[in-house]
Amino acid sequence: MKILICGGAGFIGSNFILYLAEKYPDYNIINLDKLNYAANLKNVKKLEGSANYKFIKGDICDKNLVFDLVKDVDVVVNFAAETHVDRSIMDSSIFIKSNVQGTQVLLEAAKEYDKRFHHISTDEVFGALGPDDPSFDEMTPYNPRNPYSASKAAADHLVRAYFHTFKVPVTISNCSNNYGPYQFPEKIIPLFICNLFEDKKVPVYGDGQQIRDWIHVDDHVRGIDMIIHKGKEGETYCLGGKDSEITNLYLTKTLIQLMDKDDSYIEYVKDRPGHDRRYSIDYGKIASEMGWEPLIGFKDGLRSTVDWYQNNKNWIDDVRSGDYRDYYKKQYINR
Ligand code: NAD
Ligand code: DAU
Repeated sequence: MKILICGGAGFIGSNFILYLAEKYPDYNIINLDKLNYAANLKNVKKLEGSANYKFIKGDICDKNLVFDLVKDVDVVVNFAAETHVDRSIMDSSIFIKSNVQGTQVLLEAAKEYDKRFHHISTDEVFGALGPDDPSFDEMTPYNPRNPYSASKAAADHLVRAYFHTFKVPVTISNCSNNYGPYQFPEKIIPLFICNLFEDKKVPVYGDGQQIRDWIHVDDHVRGIDMIIHKGKEGETYCLGGKDSEITNLYLTKTLIQLMDKDDSYIEYVKDRPGHDRRYSIDYGKIASEMGWEPLIGFKDGLRSTVDWYQNNKNWIDDVRSGDYRDYYKKQYINR
């Protein structure tokens, strides 16, 4: 099988490529990534030079390039996106371009050449849950509430529209919060790990009682593998973690304990505007149709993630470029 991975130099995309290359050594993998601030080709360095792997630096909005690539593959998997909510609150324009327009270009190519298209989406498109609401599932209406999730929702609607209107063979997965190796240290878990390494406090937004449904990236990529091989065209699948419903404060305190610090490292800072209170996923559909379930418990996953960052401090130094330092100042100084 020849497979085009878009956004394969980012966190989840690179974990997916490493997983695919190991499980299916005969697959041909093409990695198309524009290499934005969150990308790092070192994530997939071990595949460099391998006959079955090729990296192409380019933008999913570039129609000529995308059409050329899609023509020659069997499956397209789209991870490429701007992904950080706080950045979308600072400036949403690139989110609309990459997440919406980029997806539309990929869909046009998939339509032209009748190619299988899997789109990686998020649970944030469903909005926020109240304390007693049932978990999100595939029937939950869309209600995005920040510019990032609005752009992801727009992309999902396009994917669904291309199935209904043109019969493009698509699937979508809506996954909850991922953590694990190679995650850029702007998201809460790697940010807090890096701060604690440097003996800095960790900035908890608002009261820290927001709930996220944490899934280890290894569980997520296993689910994507099942969907591209066994998923039904036109369908959506929700994926979530093993110990869902974790408050940010519980996460922070668990991390602090794992890293031999104490609660004096917690700094409560101004809340994120429009901060979604609770996410939770019901993954019953993919469990019953394909036998997928998350296997990695939160504490075990968090411990191995801390170990990974501990053993890969060069990786952290590499990604914390000038751009990262400017962003950190804008986001956290005087908050
Ligand atoms: P990331 O920010 O680490 O990586 C995104 C990658 O996409 C980067 O390598 C970047 O260079 C590339 N990219 C961005 N715009 C591009 C463009 N126009 N053309 C080509 N490449 C482009 O993100 P991630 O956390 O790995 O997320 C991957 C996907 O999974 C995204 O679609 C995201 O919405 C979705 N998702 C993420 C999470 C999470 O918790 N991280 C959860 C659910 C869904
Ligand atoms: O739910 C899936 C989504 O999870 C993905 O679609 C997004 O791409 C991904 O970024 C993530 O979004 P969140 O906004 O939930 O992740 P983030 O790590 O930014 O924040 C997690 C929670 O922690 C959230 O409630 C905000 C809070 N937070 C975050 C940061 C960066 C803090 O309290 N302090 C911080 O410094």
